Amino acid sequence: MNPDNPDRRAPQKRLFIRSWGCQMNVYDSGRMADVLAPLGYAPTETPEDADMVVLNTCHIREKASEKLFSELGRLRVLKQAKEQGGSRMILAVAGCVAQAEGAEITARAPYVDLVLGPQSYHRLPEMVARISRATGSVIETDFPAEQKFDFLPDSTTPQGVSAFLTIQEGCDKFCSFCVVPYTRGSEFSRSAAAVLKEARHLVAQGAREITLLGQNVNAWHGEGLSGGTWTLDRLLLELAEIPNLARLRYTTSHPRDMDDALIAAHGRIPQLMPFLHLPVQSGSDRMLAAMNRGHKADLYRQIADKLRTARPDIALSSDFIAGHPGESEADHQATLKLIADIGFALAYSFKYSSRPGTPAASAAVQVAEAEKDRRLQEMQALLREQQDAFNRSCIGRRCDVLVTGAGRHEGQIAGRSPWLQPVHGLGSPHLTGQIVSATVTAAMPNSLSVRLEGNEALGPPSQTPRQEKAAA
Ligand code: 5AD
Ligand code: SF4
Repeated sequence: MNPDNPDRRAPQKRLFIRSWGCQMNVYDSGRMADVLAPLGYAPTETPEDADMVVLNTCHIREKASEKLFSELGRLRVLKQAKEQGGSRMILAVAGCVAQAEGAEITARAPYVDLVLGPQSYHRLPEMVARISRATGSVIETDFPAEQKFDFLPDSTTPQGVSAFLTIQEGCDKFCSFCVVPYTRGSEFSRSAAAVLKEARHLVAQGAREITLLGQNVNAWHGEGLSGGTWTLDRLLLELAEIPNLARLRYTTSHPRDMDDALIAAHGRIPQLMPFLHLPVQSGSDRMLAAMNRGHKADLYRQIADKLRTARPDIALSSDFIAGHPGESEADHQATLKLIADIGFALAYSFKYSSRPGTPAASAAVQVAEAEKDRRLQEMQALLREQQDAFNRSCIGRRCDVLVTGAGRHEGQIAGRSPWLQPVHGLGSPHLTGQIVSATVTAAMPNSLSVRLEGNEALGPPSQTPRQEKAAA
């Protein structure tokens, strides 16, 4: 879920903006081009080759609306011609005429897709995304996700012992601060058949651990093997049947999609590792509402309780944002309290940074930089303490280690614990790809030292969950 990943840009579309009036309007037109750029819109000089036309109007002189309607008449012909040719042109009216005469514009020119006043430009990407979806298309109309996956050949370069597999892309959640819904478009889930085929291929190439990826991975709901729609718990159950696939993980999840069936899967599927990354962003109900997260902080506490009941050794990880617009000291304290209440084995915390085109970017009350810094430091100190405590609690514990390769020093192996910690210990690199039993001997801030138990290699679990059920 990295919003900055440059490889994940939307395809190129063309944007024509006609601007009337003052310097303010010229500036606003530039801003609109900026906020639409993440959706793949680049400026063009003529409306004829544009996928979107914005008329940025001025109300200061008389006859402004007459000029607008005559221009709209010309564009209507162009829009219709494009539609007959199978393509689409989004027509938007912005600026002061839109603000003042919005209702009249939609009544007189119903073919206009968008009418927006100068206070709403920050919402333009969201509006464009919604219009694109309302007509059955998605943001990436020229390169839809399903086609992209179809075009991608089976990977020929093995990913190694621990592999990634994308099962879902895009996001419909529209968190106030996040560009992903604009840059990645709406949620798309690959079919179970496609995922299982790729998983088998990865295992054939040597993968023992697969991490399922998606911006909103637990919202995955794909076509099942014999029709119908499967949810992630069902997909995980099926993946757990693949011989030699010893470990499963998935990331990144949203609390709202963490349903009981998925929580139960954590208790049911031994291959599903006892670790979950579940971003909460804030522990304040007020901030969660401002962030458009659609849940309260207590939902997170309930999920953590249920997960720990289903899988007592599960470790949790999360993302937090310090200084989202409007965040007060009390909100910040509520986040610290949530962190203290839940306890995290690992966490990522970020200072809020304004992303053009997102609603939070234009919120009235921005938090001062120095204040954001202070809150971030407080948060990080607490999270660091918890991570250290968790790593120390592993000392003396026996755990399975997936050997991923040779360690940094001669005679050492590198591996990974069930809780995602990097692990190193004495052992032969020939063990790469095997799961060995080990005892944790020391804990560092970001890794563990282990002693392998007689170097014996454990195979994959002897029984899959389904075989266990059949035997019961
Ligand atoms: N500012 C700060 N953090 C952000 N994230 C996403 N957008 C922003 C932003 N504008 C963080 C969230 C998310 C993680 C991948 O990045 O915490 O979960
Ligand atoms: Fe961004 Fe929120 Fe979607 Fe995560 S759930 S990708 S933070 S909009």
